[in-house]
Amino acid sequence: MIKVAVVGATGFVGCALLKLLEKHSEVDIGLITSTSHVGKPLSELQEEFSGTPLGNLVLSVQDPALINQQDVAFLAVPHGTAEALAKNLTCKVIDLSADQRLTAVYGLPEAFSKQISHAQIVGNPGCYATACILAALPLKNHLKSCVFDCISGYSGAGKNAHEKFNYAENIIAYHLADHLHLPEIKKALGCSVSFTPHVVNAFSGLMCTAHLNLKETLSLEAVQSLYESFYKDGFTTAVSHIPSTKEVVGTPFCHIGGFAKDENGLVVVSVIDNLMKGAASQAIENFNLMFGFNLKEGLL
Ligand SMILES: NC(=O)c1ccc[n+]([C@@H]2O[C@H](COP(=O)([O-])OP(=O)(O)OC[C@H]3O[C@@H](n4cnc5c(N)ncnc54)[C@H](OP(=O)(O)O)[C@@H]3O)[C@@H](O)[C@H]2O)c1
Repeated sequence: MIKVAVVGATGFVGCALLKLLEKHSEVDIGLITSTSHVGKPLSELQEEFSGTPLGNLVLSVQDPALINQQDVAFLAVPHGTAEALAKNLTCKVIDLSADQRLTAVYGLPEAFSKQISHAQIVGNPGCYATACILAALPLKNHLKSCVFDCISGYSGAGKNAHEKFNYAENIIAYHLADHLHLPEIKKALGCSVSFTPHVVNAFSGLMCTAHLNLKETLSLEAVQSLYESFYKDGFTTAVSHIPSTKEVVGTPFCHIGGFAKDENGLVVVSVIDNLMKGAASQAIENFNLMFGFNLKEGLL
């Protein structure tokens, strides 16, 4: 059994992680941490865990010495706090914040599975970045530039999302040209990228409409078959319709489809659950690779 710490267990991502880890046959959850609820049982904060063994686990202080008694730590804490903590950790680390995405092994199994399997620290991709990169990755060598328009449910902003966004009956664009995820998208695709996120009044689900400007003309049949062969394993699938978020919410899947042409190139739509493929389930994929388990262990 692999001993696991979930650092930031009271957040949206921490909670999604715990639900998946609880079902994983090779995992022993040894430590859960919080900054503001130390000493409380998890069930006091998350009613859904009431009456389960997980609900009785008591939230601990975020102490590197305690975390290092585990084999791996999932860091589900705000940006800017994870990297400093990771510097004091000797166990393996899967960082779900943005802190180490450009410096550690990038945890996108569709692109870096070999590197992830040998990594000590993995930077789990951002939710928007996951949807954008997966929408374009099979065409990486053909890309001149990309424009990504993304829409996310409000859980993408964490449990205090209501303080950040007035999302009731509203559609909000933000960080029009300088979102935190832009550098990792550019690094993964290696071309010029424009990316604008929007938030809507849905709890979870994330859609990316990708406009891919290609160096040469490719037929739609060639594109579709390229995506199908590129994504034949794993949780990302090319579909023959225009995907919508409902088909992936609550699942570890990314669906990519649409595949239409306009005068600027190709239009492709990808959808994920921001808390799953955009965070927790992708972190479990990375955990599985790092510890030599099947990629899909605990996720189906
Ligand atoms: N939400 C998503 O869809 C999503 C997707 C991909 C990546 N992420 C990233 O994953 C991380 C967690 O996101 P989230 O949505 O779960 O946020 P959240 O709901 O706001 O939860 C944040 C967690 O971090 C803890 N925390 C707060 N301030 C802290 C500090 N200064 N030091 C250490 N821990 C602190 C909180 O603990 P207490 O409140 O108990 O003190 C809570 O457990 C963030 O870096 C986020 O960007 C989120």
